[in-house]
Amino acid sequence: MRTWVAPGRVNIIGEHTDYNDGFVLPIALPLVTRCAAAGRTDGRVQASSRQRPGETVLVAITELAAQRDRVPAWARYPLGVVAEFVRRGHRVGGIELELDGAVPIGAGLSSSAALSCAVALALRDMFAPNLTDRDLIEIARAAENHYAGAPTGVLDHSAAVLCTAGHALFLDVRRMAYEQIPFDLTHFGLELLVIDTGQPHALVDGGYAARRDQCAGAAAALGIPALRDADTVAVERIADPLLRRRARHVVTENARVVTVAQMLREGADPRAIGPVLTASHTSLRDDFEVSTAALDAAVAAAHTAGAHGARMVGGGFGGSVIALTERERTSAVIDAVRERFARTGFGEPRTFAVVPAAGAHRVD
Ligand code: GLA
Repeated sequence: MRTWVAPGRVNIIGEHTDYNDGFVLPIALPLVTRCAAAGRTDGRVQASSRQRPGETVLVAITELAAQRDRVPAWARYPLGVVAEFVRRGHRVGGIELELDGAVPIGAGLSSSAALSCAVALALRDMFAPNLTDRDLIEIARAAENHYAGAPTGVLDHSAAVLCTAGHALFLDVRRMAYEQIPFDLTHFGLELLVIDTGQPHALVDGGYAARRDQCAGAAAALGIPALRDADTVAVERIADPLLRRRARHVVTENARVVTVAQMLREGADPRAIGPVLTASHTSLRDDFEVSTAALDAAVAAAHTAGAHGARMVGGGFGGSVIALTERERTSAVIDAVRERFARTGFGEPRTFAVVPAAGAHRVD
């Protein structure tokens, strides 16, 4: 067997902008999903997961669509990737997949994209070596959209495939053009802390899809292809107050991504991006309404303990917060969040510092 890995991600900034043809700025996490794979000659896919002992699935490739609702939810990601390769006309004679994921599930850190991208990379190397990174991103996304039933954009898969160690990925989703921008917090004595609230976030629930619909509705109200094309003046003309708020978040968030990318590109002290991160959180909380009490509490506690900026990451409705802290303040921030969570009756948060790691690749 050979082994491929793909990472989870945190988005430094640019939330709910990807499906509006906008900008994002993720880094890959040092936490990965491993996919060991070997070919089979019997036309079947076998998938097992170290995290789901006793739930091995074995499905004929010709039966993938028919069996979709009968396999456990986690298996729809790897099987969906195989189904997508087959749907695109690639010959897959059979495959055995052994999966092992270290990206926390439901934390808003893209464990699902890590899984689908690790499998997609394995299948590319084994069956379709001419596919481009962009094809891989589309395949992994289509697998999640059509087979796993999660209506995601391309942020997570782009991060998993394209990110490089030491860099943030500035991605223009409309053009699928990107730039690797050095992102070295250690050099400045800083740390990026992830605070997983422990409140699971799930994209297959309705809130995420509703936001997508509302953004499409706002773009239609403005007569433009996507909210990428709107500006702050146009947005205030939207008659429906809810659609106006949603559009305002997207337009201001795109501007914040461009601002942060420019600051980092110019080698600015990253402390300067702190207030922009916090502005993103406020916008996600008030205009986009995807935050939760626990996410807000984590952001507030991080600030109280001296973080330069903090915000929820990922789709929202649970999941994680990132906080930009002085290295020597990190433990004070962790203590403050723990104390606030204990006092408010939230569960114990999980915290860990991250540095920008490599995108998906083969390891042996
Ligand atoms: C989830 C989706 C992404 C993106 C983010 C919000 O992670 O999978 O495509 O829309 O939410 O930025």
